[in-house]
Amino acid sequence: MSAPRGEFSSRWGYILAASGSAVGLGNVWGFPTQAASNGGGAFLVVYLLLTFFLAYPAFMAEMIIGRYAKSNSVAALRKISSGSKSYYLGSLLGYGGIATASLILCFYAIIAGWMIAFMLAAGADLTGSAAASSWLTTFGLPRNLVFTVAFFVLTVFVVIGGVQNGIEKWSTRLMPILLSLLVILIIYVMTLDGASDGLRLYLLPDFSKILKPDLILGAMGQSFFSLSIGVGSMMIYGSYLSRKENLPRTGLAVTLIDIGIASMAGLLIIPSMFVAQNNGVSIFDANGALISSDALIFTVLPALFDTMGSAGAAVGLVFFALMSIAALTSSISMLEVPVAYTVETHNMSRQKATTLIAVVLAIISLIIAANFGLLFGWVVQLTTEFSQPLLALIMCLFAGWVWHRSKVLAEIEEGFPEAAGSWFWKIWHPYIRYICPIGILAVFVQSL
Ligand code: PHE
Repeated sequence: MSAPRGEFSSRWGYILAASGSAVGLGNVWGFPTQAASNGGGAFLVVYLLLTFFLAYPAFMAEMIIGRYAKSNSVAALRKISSGSKSYYLGSLLGYGGIATASLILCFYAIIAGWMIAFMLAAGADLTGSAAASSWLTTFGLPRNLVFTVAFFVLTVFVVIGGVQNGIEKWSTRLMPILLSLLVILIIYVMTLDGASDGLRLYLLPDFSKILKPDLILGAMGQSFFSLSIGVGSMMIYGSYLSRKENLPRTGLAVTLIDIGIASMAGLLIIPSMFVAQNNGVSIFDANGALISSDALIFTVLPALFDTMGSAGAAVGLVFFALMSIAALTSSISMLEVPVAYTVETHNMSRQKATTLIAVVLAIISLIIAANFGLLFGWVVQLTTEFSQPLLALIMCLFAGWVWHRSKVLAEIEEGFPEAAGSWFWKIWHPYIRYICPIGILAVFVQSL
């Protein structure tokens, strides 16, 4: 009846696609800017701990469920449910994930559009088109609309190709480029005056800040967002992974790449801020705090590139290309969530489903862009601070309590026959039952 499901051609295909989903604006923008304003190294330490102890186990839960069910997230959660109550809760969780992934894409596309605009602006500077450059870098509705739509078009272009010919092909092309650009920029920035002050702030933790609730909450949100947890992206990618592969090892590789790139982005952004200061750009706001968030990326860094003379436009081009690539390999994993559901449930062609869903989401995105002050922050908060932790919490309960233990183990044993005696199984299963839900709940309740 239905077309055969796609599958990644190799373990590396999966690892690059899943780390492409994980590595996004959350890593190269969110992490460094939060670290900059939350005690640098202290934030890094808490982020690393929370990623290993809360996010990695939850990510594994999603990946295992996905590969077991080999279906879209709603069907997968229904498949592991054990009665009518858990069936309904599973459906709710699946639909909640689809809605959240879709809404995340709606705000993500706006920021990603800015990144593309700034990249083109650097290109315009290189060719001497000052007027074009100024239009591209000025916050205005027409510009935002054009580039939000452009980013949706790019995302659709990849997703329409399907698992191997779209998601895998583009992730395996773009991820090595992303890493190379990041390394080149880090090396370059390290040679500039002022970089060492930033390096010191980033690498020497200020332990007095480490137990601040704000810092812990920010770090948890950051690590969940960064590993794309709760919304079904990792479940759907897991569903395209072959049963020959070792799940814990493959999942660990993705987690390490995600953490590695976030940490490297810190090595780029925080020293860059101090180079900017060294060149006369102010990096502290009126309250004496380090400038963070959008002001950092779209004001401080472009001001830094301006102080670099002719090299500045080239550095800016590379920097915003890096950001745009990071965004694209993530956005495709967001769009894949509703697309896979629609293709599998409504028997629609991938082409039609992708286009239709993208048009609807682009319209929502444009509404948010047109009412930016009113809606943008609210949508970000709703999806990343409320919905994602809540969905992750229910996901852990499903993997730990609803799904039968022996079936979970049997799935991990596919591709990892020694699983039953492994440290992973001994630690992970009790962990996902107790520690993860309690940990997520504790941080979550505190935030309310
Ligand atoms: N992990 C992505 C990032 O760090 C964001 C993302 C969230 C991707 C949810 C997919 C699903 O930017």
